[in-house]
Amino acid sequence: MGIRNVLRIGHPALRTCSAEVPEDWFGSRRLQQLIDDLFDTKLACSGAGLAAPQIDEPWRVFVVGMGHNPRYPNENPLPERVLINPVIEYIGDELISGWEGCLSVPGMRGEVERWEHIHLKWQDRDGEFQTEELQGFHARVIQHESDHLDGVLFPDCLTSPLAFGFTDELKANGIID
Ligand code: NI
Repeated sequence: MGIRNVLRIGHPALRTCSAEVPEDWFGSRRLQQLIDDLFDTKLACSGAGLAAPQIDEPWRVFVVGMGHNPRYPNENPLPERVLINPVIEYIGDELISGWEGCLSVPGMRGEVERWEHIHLKWQDRDGEFQTEELQGFHARVIQHESDHLDGVLFPDCLTSPLAFGFTDELKANGIID
C-alpha cells in the first residue's frame, strides 16, 4: 500500500486505545506490510516518528528515526526502528520541557514536559524482546509516539495553554528556533 493518509486531530481513531500486537502476527505478511507503510509514510512526511493509529491501524506499533530532518534541524539523528508493544518506565524524576510537533497536528507546535530518562522495552519485527535506556530528544520522541497508542495527542499535555501555536508564527516571533 505504501504511503498512507495521516489522520489529523479531530478524527476519532486518534483517540482510541490501541490493542497489543498478538504473538501470531510476528513474521506475518500483515505485520510486515503495516511496518513498511509506517516507514514509507513517515519518510514521505519528514516525520521523526509515526504511530499506527495515525494511519488508522489500531495496534501498538510505531516507527521512529530520522537523518537530517527539516522539521527538527537542531536535533541529532535517530536510528530507524520499529517498536511493537512498547512499555516505558521512567528513570529518576527529571522532567524536561521541549517544543513538539505531530504529523496529526500539522503546522503547529506546543511545549510539553517529558521524562528525561526512560527505560524502554519492546518487541522488534521478529517478536524478540529488546530493552534500552534512552534520554533527551530520543526519549521525548518515544514518549510522544507511545502516547498515540493510548489516544493521547501532544496538545493534551501542554505546559500551558499559551505554549502552543502555528510553527511559522512561533518562529517569526523568536519563540522557537
Ligand atoms: Ni505525533
